[in-house]
Amino acid sequence: MLTRQNLQSFYRMEKRQDIMTRLEVCAWEKHQILPSSQFFRAFSPSNIALIKYWGKRDVALNLPTHGSISVTLKDFGSYTTAEFSEHFTKDEFYLNGTTLIDFSKAIKTVDELRKLAQTSLRVRVQSYNNFPTAAGLASSASGMSALTYACARALDLNLSLEKLSEISRKTSGSSCRSFFDGFVEWNKGELADGSDCVAHSIVEGKHFPLQVFLVVVQEKPKHHPSTDGMLHTQKTSPFFEAWVKNSEKDFIRMKKALFEKDFESFSMIIQENCFRMHACMMASSPPLLYWEPQTLLVTGLIESLQKSSIPVCFTIDAGPNVVVLCPPEVRRTVHEELKKLNPMQLLSTILGSGTRAYNLQEWQNE
Ligand code: DP6
Repeated sequence: MLTRQNLQSFYRMEKRQDIMTRLEVCAWEKHQILPSSQFFRAFSPSNIALIKYWGKRDVALNLPTHGSISVTLKDFGSYTTAEFSEHFTKDEFYLNGTTLIDFSKAIKTVDELRKLAQTSLRVRVQSYNNFPTAAGLASSASGMSALTYACARALDLNLSLEKLSEISRKTSGSSCRSFFDGFVEWNKGELADGSDCVAHSIVEGKHFPLQVFLVVVQEKPKHHPSTDGMLHTQKTSPFFEAWVKNSEKDFIRMKKALFEKDFESFSMIIQENCFRMHACMMASSPPLLYWEPQTLLVTGLIESLQKSSIPVCFTIDAGPNVVVLCPPEVRRTVHEELKKLNPMQLLSTILGSGTRAYNLQEWQNE
């Protein structure tokens, strides 16, 4: 059994900050695992879109209007324990130690997996995010992919990552990208059943190493959940068609920039794509604006660094927080500059691997 105590003694000698982040995750299991239950622990990283998914060609299946490209983060994501037992009389969900009242979205995924496993066992899910939740930093992507993986493995379902990604996508579109390593593409696909609408890794993170900073200017959940904001934009924004057309071009341009390791083009494409998505939202009726004044302080700083020829760029999801990317050579300079803005949190990481079993051994070896 994983407890805070045995982890603390395990890492007693460690001083590294990432280990401290990991110690916090012990808080996620408020309830001890029952001896007779079927359980599994998983970790899934957050992924940040460089070319954004913002529009659905099929709402029920979460099929996108265009392809998207993301980076998988190494250190930030969701730790989830899924436990099935005949002793449970109802399904229960806990997030960051608190009981979740509304888990209507997540239960769809659990039900699909229960059906595949031909079981009616109830589940207890305990999950922990080691970064701000619902603040536009893709916590639903990491949460849903971790849940899908942990439940499938707890039920002994032998499903490929591709299949798990597809199941997870139906509940949270962007979560389908978290399963894979480094730079990930999620193809739009053409078929009505979504069978060709799949995500996979384009290249590993080490192909084009990047430092990623999550600049948290606001920790509280965003005012409009992504699903609502997306459908509202699609329904009411006169710019929506142009947004989709441009994103299709950006998708192709981005893959070229990645293969050529061309940071200048990379920066230009991700910033343009980000601004176009937000412009499209702002043109909705009524308008949808996720930014806060501090959001622009961060983007302004990045633009001034760019004017001083520092290779750095940013993107913003559906929230006020900013994700800053740069090559490893300039990470110290960029970090120092971002610190001067005094954000609520300044988290730093690199690109990493997708959804996996959470195991203590892995930590030990790092
Ligand atoms: C701005 O995946 O949260 O982060 O499919 O409706 O659950 P649903 O939406 P979600 O949307 C993410 C939107 C985004 C861009 C992206 O991650 O590509």
